[in-house]
Amino acid sequence: MEKIISLKNVSKEFKVLNRREGLRGSFMDLFSRDYKIINAVNNISMEIEQGEIVGYLGPNGAGKSTTIKMMTGVLEPTSGDIIIDGRIPYKDRNKYAQNIGVVFGQRTQLWWALPAIESFKILKDMYQVKDKDYKDMMDLFSSTVDLDKLLHKPVRQMSLGQRTLSDILAAFLHNPKIVFLDEPTIGLDVAMKSKIRELIKTLNKEKNTTIILTTHDMGDVDALCRRIVIIDKGTILYDNDIEKIKSIFGNYRTLKVRLGKTSEELNEEAIKKEVEDMELKLKEVYPKAQTLHVSDVDEWINILVNEDEVEMIDVLNFIQRQRKIYDVRLEEISTESVIRKIYEGGLE
Ligand SMILES: Nc1ncnc2c1ncn2[C@@H]1O[C@H](COP(=O)(O)OP(=O)(O)OP(=O)(O)O)[C@@H](O)[C@H]1O
Ligand SMILES: [Mg+2]
Repeated sequence: MEKIISLKNVSKEFKVLNRREGLRGSFMDLFSRDYKIINAVNNISMEIEQGEIVGYLGPNGAGKSTTIKMMTGVLEPTSGDIIIDGRIPYKDRNKYAQNIGVVFGQRTQLWWALPAIESFKILKDMYQVKDKDYKDMMDLFSSTVDLDKLLHKPVRQMSLGQRTLSDILAAFLHNPKIVFLDEPTIGLDVAMKSKIRELIKTLNKEKNTTIILTTHDMGDVDALCRRIVIIDKGTILYDNDIEKIKSIFGNYRTLKVRLGKTSEELNEEAIKKEVEDMELKLKEVYPKAQTLHVSDVDEWINILVNEDEVEMIDVLNFIQRQRKIYDVRLEEISTESVIRKIYEGGLE
């Protein structure tokens, strides 16, 4: 089957001025410019099928956004070939735009002063969406999002979460074949993140939209992607099934609890002992939980839990039976820790 997205040996170099320091330096810069080349993306190849949701992951500066910009036609590759839905993105930008939707997290493409619904109407005209298709799409949107609350607010009065929701809806409005989402959940709280994941999942399922998603949040990847591509320093490090990573990495989350302290417990020795005791006891009660690890950071006790081994709620209940808990948090594993694990030789 013809792949909807195909990248072959794609590279992107940026030429940046190496500025010299001080007044003398600036003076020298006037006469001889000293450039350096940044290989933001270095000889990457990948193919993606219609309907896939691919997590495009990597540490800061890895080249994710640069790849997305080339795929959306904003940047021209220095070398290599990109063919998406039969077109070369940067060459054919107007026609190509009809087939794609884009969301760059924290930057809205909606008209700031207008209520979202007005922006949607402009987009409808721009993309020449038929009345019936528009209505169908709005019906689909309202099946997952409370549209009434959202649509009539000027974008500038929206919270970041509401704006991101509106942006995602706007990107899907003309029913493009491919949608690029560059960190759509950045800066959002847990509830809003899960709402956005739900929305993306529904749209992908109903419309069979191909989705490329960059994120630093392993929760996004867990909820949405079956395949991940990991890029670092411009080079693809891993391109495969998420399950394979999970089977090696396990199903970990960190439970953080803050315990009320009595004065005798405030010394470091006592805390250290308490943490050790807790780990021992937990392993005793849940013999399967062998990778469970307890540590303390500031006033928090961190318990790394593999949920394939033991239920999170059991661990929490266990602690609650022993001690008064003042505060609880759950922390997802970040994509960074997965990537670190891959570096450490966990895969292949
Ligand atoms: N317009 C530009 N001019 C010069 N260098 C650039 C430009 N855009 C990106 N770079 C450099 O290219 C490299 C890749 O940047 P890119 O924004 O693609 O990373 P990223 O993976 O999206 O990172 P992040 O997770 O921080 O968003 C970085 O070293 C960056 O500084
Ligand atoms: Mg980026």
